[in-house]
Amino acid sequence: MKKLCLFFILILLSNITNIMAQDKAKILVLIHSDNGGTYELAKEIAKGIESENNAVPYIKLVKASQHPNLKNLPVATVDELTNYDGIAFGSPVYFGNISTGMSEFLSKTVQLWTNHALEGVPATVFMSAGSGAGKELALQAFWNSLAVHGMVLVSNGIRGTEELNKTIPQGNTVLGVTSMASLKDVERPTKGERNIAELQGKNFAKIALALKDTRPKKTTTIVENHQNFNEILKQKNIILPQVPKPAGNYQPFVRSGNLVFINQVALKDGKILNPGKLGVEVNEQQVKDATKATMLNVISVLKEAVGGDLGRVKQCVQLTGIFNTKDDYTKHADLMNIASDLAVEVFGDKGKHARATFGASSIPVNSSVEIQAVFEVE
Ligand SMILES: Cc1cc2nc3c(=O)[nH]c(=O)nc-3n(C[C@H](O)[C@H](O)[C@H](O)COP(=O)(O)O)c2cc1C
Repeated sequence: MKKLCLFFILILLSNITNIMAQDKAKILVLIHSDNGGTYELAKEIAKGIESENNAVPYIKLVKASQHPNLKNLPVATVDELTNYDGIAFGSPVYFGNISTGMSEFLSKTVQLWTNHALEGVPATVFMSAGSGAGKELALQAFWNSLAVHGMVLVSNGIRGTEELNKTIPQGNTVLGVTSMASLKDVERPTKGERNIAELQGKNFAKIALALKDTRPKKTTTIVENHQNFNEILKQKNIILPQVPKPAGNYQPFVRSGNLVFINQVALKDGKILNPGKLGVEVNEQQVKDATKATMLNVISVLKEAVGGDLGRVKQCVQLTGIFNTKDDYTKHADLMNIASDLAVEVFGDKGKHARATFGASSIPVNSSVEIQAVFEVE
């Protein structure tokens, strides 16, 4: 009898879990990008969507790209567009218009149009420009196609402008966020543009959630694992940092076949966390904190390497921890357990790995730790 009860409880729990998963708003961030500028904005839009409980972003390309930052992103099909509760469209500005890549993709949606398949689906737009000439025309041109589909066009209004550095040109518009890649005096997207993109994603997710059940239910489902990973990170309160910029002539990651190679130090918020030698400038707890920050950087870069979908990670193959220690130090394994535990916390069995640790007399930029990581991915 007890066993029977347990069986029914398990079935009930699994049904509740399924219902909860179905309740989430699935939002496609659909982009064309030549040089990665639109992708940079897309990541911020996705971050904003993720910050809304019950909304899950899926960044996909309209067509495959060989650009190093884009080549690992999944490519969307026209048919899958109807599976989402909202679509955020992003494209480069081409001659005051949407890009030809985005235009080609949209021209394949005639059947969806004649079937009214996207009617009532919320849409928002964002764009990467060069000088910014014609950017508002281009955003409006985006709306033309989406209006023909009968989509609910969500403008961005005035959002995040109080935080903008008003001494330089910025890509805020009321229709959607833009960035001006060819203005080289500051890094693009600017901090303010990134902030507006994130707010746009958040606001859009709110609207997609509100409209979610106002359209007939679709029977098709999106088979993706990454939804679970976003959930896991949220539940465990693990916040991934921005991917650290390379400090020299190297890449944040290199993919060779199905293996991804990553090396990181304890960079946090633009500076090294708890720098120095263990037992001289820093103690064990400080090195453990630095190790956690380093491993978070590793996972953040890994997420980038798999196009934002940690569900594509098959195995953490090997972690190597290098610690700035005195000659007679021997407890490297205790320090490195912080990184190993984090890998298992995030990836479960797939996070279990082979490992090496050793001490060094110095580490670049005076970090107390460096982690080398190898992952197998899909
Ligand atoms: C054919 C073509 C037309 C363009 N027209 C414009 C334009 O009208 N206004 C503008 O600001 N930038 C224009 N650009 C520059 C792109 O919008 C800019 O490089 C953008 O950042 C590219 O985005 P991506 O990095 O996602 O590829 C044009 C680029 C190309 C290739």
